[in-house]
Amino acid sequence: MTKCTQYLLYALVLVFVFSPSLALNSRASSLYSEDDPLSELNSTLFNKRVLGSSKVWIIEFYNNWCGHCIRYAPTWKQFAREIATWKRIVGIAVVNCNDAQNVKLCRFYEVESFPTIKMFWLNTLPNDTGTIINGNRDIISLENHVVDFLETNWDKGVPSDWPVLKAIQMENLADITEAMPDRKQSVMLFVEFPDSHVGCKIILDISFQISVSVSRILTTSEKLMTDLDTEVSNTTVPFLTRVYRNNFQMPLLKFTRYDNDSYIRDQIFKFLAGIPRNVGKKIEDFLPDEQLKNNISNINAAYMIDLENAVYNSLSKEIGVVKLIEGEKLKALTNYLHVLEKYFPGNPYMMKYLTNFYNWVASKAAISGEEFVEAMQAKQNKKHYLHPMRPWVGCQGSEPKYRGYPCSLWMLFHTLTVQADKKSKEMMNGPKGKDVLFIIRDYVKYFFTCEECSKNFLKMAHNLETEVGNSQEAVLWLWEGHNKVNNRLSGDVTEDPQYPKVQFPSVEDCPKCVLRIDNEANEIIWDKPVVLEFLHNFYDKKNILSYSQRKTHRSLINDQINAANTAMGIKFILFLTSAPLLLSTLTFTRL
Ligand SMILES: *[C@@H]1O[C@H](CO)[C@@H](O)[C@H](O)[C@H]1NC(C)=O
Ligand SMILES: *[C@@H]1O[C@H](CO)[C@@H](O)[C@H](O)[C@H]1NC(C)=O
Ligand SMILES: *[C@@H]1O[C@H](CO)[C@@H](O)[C@H](O)[C@H]1NC(C)=O
Ligand SMILES: *[C@@H]1O[C@H](CO)[C@@H](O)[C@H](O)[C@H]1NC(C)=O
Ligand SMILES: *[C@@H]1O[C@H](CO)[C@@H](O)[C@H](O)[C@H]1NC(C)=O
Repeated sequence: MTKCTQYLLYALVLVFVFSPSLALNSRASSLYSEDDPLSELNSTLFNKRVLGSSKVWIIEFYNNWCGHCIRYAPTWKQFAREIATWKRIVGIAVVNCNDAQNVKLCRFYEVESFPTIKMFWLNTLPNDTGTIINGNRDIISLENHVVDFLETNWDKGVPSDWPVLKAIQMENLADITEAMPDRKQSVMLFVEFPDSHVGCKIILDISFQISVSVSRILTTSEKLMTDLDTEVSNTTVPFLTRVYRNNFQMPLLKFTRYDNDSYIRDQIFKFLAGIPRNVGKKIEDFLPDEQLKNNISNINAAYMIDLENAVYNSLSKEIGVVKLIEGEKLKALTNYLHVLEKYFPGNPYMMKYLTNFYNWVASKAAISGEEFVEAMQAKQNKKHYLHPMRPWVGCQGSEPKYRGYPCSLWMLFHTLTVQADKKSKEMMNGPKGKDVLFIIRDYVKYFFTCEECSKNFLKMAHNLETEVGNSQEAVLWLWEGHNKVNNRLSGDVTEDPQYPKVQFPSVEDCPKCVLRIDNEANEIIWDKPVVLEFLHNFYDKKNILSYSQRKTHRSLINDQINAANTAMGIKFILFLTSAPLLLSTLTFTRL
């Protein structure tokens, strides 16, 4: 990277960005569209389609802001296309657990991390929470899971029109031809290794599509292998052969063990059906459209609405989804509520609410997610009030799947560590200083539903106790960690193209924060005491912007210029160096 482009990169004035999203109280946006051959379910549709169903279901419980889910969505879509023609036997669905109407459903089905994949057998009862799919989740493995699930449960009984998936158990070829129905002159046999899944996939591909049937034979039937005059080796198996009544054998298609399932299925389908196997259309580009390009509030500040949304969402959607909170989890929860109650820079109504709610939770020995969410609502009144979700302001992404909740949660965590650093000394009781960071880590450990993000965060924090000795170090540790995450996710599909994940603060925001840029190491050398001062200002209560409505970029900038012109007292412009910076490094009005 040249010096010039690097400078430009750092010069971009951007909000601390983390990862994608939108989570409004009512409808969350989907990662899937009507073009995908799958059903997007809510509880009504789930009950109607899955419960008592005459087919099996494979369901992805996801969360539209979870980076891993976003990256995984193309795989799931392609998987749905690959098995779309099995639809009489296997239903494919998704449930967005970030959608408020689905929280209860996801809790019932014990979805505590995303994505969770579950399978449901025929005639599922309402008390069946399904079979979780663990291990590899690539397309071929998912297909294998489906096949295994069918084989394992087959003996519970299946509709009479389903094709036979089980391998033929007969010992001799003559027995097989004798058992052929009268009207048939020949039988199509697919010979494969016992650990292969492709035979079942082929049978599922062709059933209900063409009037040809194929039976499976395993290489473990030694006598049959001899009858078929077959050498069993990695380069001669699997193969498709046709056997006539007089035991005459006509080899049709040969493969090797190293051919992939998709290739074998394509070849056999084309051969039997005379047309290509229909795997649906290709995955559409996963690039966002640019419609929101011009009206994003590209202002570098923390917004109270975003912080309040972070609190509401974390309580209702992340903690609320846990079935039973007790032991370590309950401790993490009460600590988290205690930190919010002490350090959240909220209005008096919200603070009273948080104190009240914290006291209630602290009195419990165990609590269910359901009870928690109910109490969350029940404890609202005129004096104690937690505002429900509102549209994002600073954390608004250029598309619903970008930014939003993860962005706001970072903001919340930074705010809490900064507030703790400022106010710890005055606090008589409750968590102090660096403990706030440890409590945040525990929140991420027990409740942050983005499994991958949580793992990465905990990896980063594995030495936290030795790395962080006081509240100032806690503020800086979180700031550095966030920059590391931004660095890692820069260029990732979860990155909002409108908000590249740059290092924060930018040179424009805080020229004095940057000592120099090490071009060789491609690294910024920070002046940490200055950064700390900057963060103290950025997340100071008086600098957190309150906007009852989301404003567009331009009108917000105009507001800020006006505010700057008439500013009374409060100076946020620490490092204003030139006129154009007025647009980005702004004087903020008091809340
Ligand atoms: C689920 O979606 C269907 C169709 O969009 C809708 O009619 C129904 O009211 C929804 N159910 C719930 C519980 O929101
Ligand atoms: C689910 O309900 C059925 C009948 O309603 C009952 O026979 C079965 O034992 C229940 N299963 C579980 C796991 O509770
Ligand atoms: C055949 O393939 C299996 C599985 O890939 C492998 O374990 C085995 O060593 C192979 N055998 C030969 C002779 O290459
Ligand atoms: C499967 O094999 C075919 C032919 O060898 C190849 O073109 C294709 O890329 C392979 N697909 C996968 C998913 O490996
Ligand atoms: C962005 O602007 C367009 C056109 O003015 C408008 O239709 C759209 O609703 C705006 N988006 C948001 C999120 O405000």
